[in-house]
Amino acid sequence: MTTSIPGEPWSTGVTRDASGEAVVAGVPVSRLAAEHGTPAYVLDEADVRTRARAYRRAFETAFAEVGAGVDVYYAGKAFLSVAVARWVHEEGLRVDTASGGELAVALRAGVPGAHLGLHGNNKSDDEIAAALEAGVGRIIVDSLAEVDRVAAAAAARGVVAPVMVRVTTGVHAGGHEYISTAHEDQKFGLSVHGREGEDSPATTALLAVLARPELHLLGIHSHIGSQILDASGFAVAARAVLDLRAHLAARTGVLVEEVDIGGGYGIAYLPGEVALDPARVAKDISVALADASVDLSTPLPRFSIEPGRAIVGPAGLTLYRVGTVKPVQLSDGRVRTYVSVDGGMSDNIRPALYGAQYHAEVVGRLSEAEPVLARVVGKHCESGDIVVHEVLLPADVREGDLLAVAATGAYGRSMASNYNLLTRPPVVAVTDGASRVLVRRETVDDLLALDADA
Ligand code: LLP
Repeated sequence: MTTSIPGEPWSTGVTRDASGEAVVAGVPVSRLAAEHGTPAYVLDEADVRTRARAYRRAFETAFAEVGAGVDVYYAGKAFLSVAVARWVHEEGLRVDTASGGELAVALRAGVPGAHLGLHGNNKSDDEIAAALEAGVGRIIVDSLAEVDRVAAAAAARGVVAPVMVRVTTGVHAGGHEYISTAHEDQKFGLSVHGREGEDSPATTALLAVLARPELHLLGIHSHIGSQILDASGFAVAARAVLDLRAHLAARTGVLVEEVDIGGGYGIAYLPGEVALDPARVAKDISVALADASVDLSTPLPRFSIEPGRAIVGPAGLTLYRVGTVKPVQLSDGRVRTYVSVDGGMSDNIRPALYGAQYHAEVVGRLSEAEPVLARVVGKHCESGDIVVHEVLLPADVREGDLLAVAATGAYGRSMASNYNLLTRPPVVAVTDGASRVLVRRETVDDLLALDADA
């Protein structure tokens, strides 16, 4: 049986020792399982930090070459805990939050308010208030009504709120329709395309912000989708945003200072898949921006980007224990081995929600057995509870084996549920041969504590 360890899609700290057991940043998986139980999300700290640094450096370098500054905001929705917010902050990133909960965690980590952004298409008054009280660097407004709500909240506090307006350019990209957020027929942002002879919704919102003394129009924001593996969409969308910025300047004399081009940088989930290379993407986007600046005869703004998945996704794996192993005869004569693990769709909803593909390996040992066609499934009460749709596993895969699924660091724990009242797994960080809990495992007592028994 071959193994893809070390290599993509595993984090850089994953290797196999002489016995064939997988080791994460110096800690054998059997020790992780013994210390923390299974299932467990395992995060390779050095890998997170390296990716955060790589994105920051790649964009700073490429954008400096065209005379523009850039800030990198880590999109906390991918996975946020106090420690992770601290790591990325230490690596020079800012943090993009999308709820009061994410904001609270980032603040607890000591990230200064000025380095935080707040997103959301339906922010509550409490979330807007918390953002203003924290002095966030930007609130990204998503509708005309929100312009008034943020202005009223700022007026009530006697502050001027820095805002960006989220626009949709019609450019959409990414792995799945539900994660492509710049279609026109979806809930996010304001379209740059208006009806003949009328202002576009984006222009209307920008003018509304400029009309409010309680708001400072910092810039324009565009996010085109997620898990994007073809980088060309970023430059096209950025160009559309620069056109809008120039249009606004011609109309009002205000040339906004900042443009955010969102997140969405794709990663490898399977062996052989190729992630977007930050240096390459940064270069392509910066060259397109430099051309746009010449065409429009306007100086470039300061830019920002919001990668989430690309920072934490490849750094994480989920460690499971194999339970039942069941051969199932298929109608075409083949046999599929169903391998049940001790988690499932409650710790990774992405296969069920998006048809996402993952790679799994038996990691407690290296088997010499022939590979067989296998499907890794969870322990939930429905047949769509699939963790890995199709993967070759050794024919002797058996109860008690440790099995790991690669690249689960983003949108795994952050989208986890308590379906069937399973307790959500811990997030364990591994650094230089030692592991520690970042988010502890839920217990049945936690579940019972939420139940009011009324
Ligand atoms: N910025 C904004 C405004 C976003 O809406 C998103 C993701 C990001 C940044 C970060 O995107 P990333 O770099 O992580 O692709 N749950 C889905 C992904 C939803 C993404 C929504 N917005 C998944 O599991 O694939």
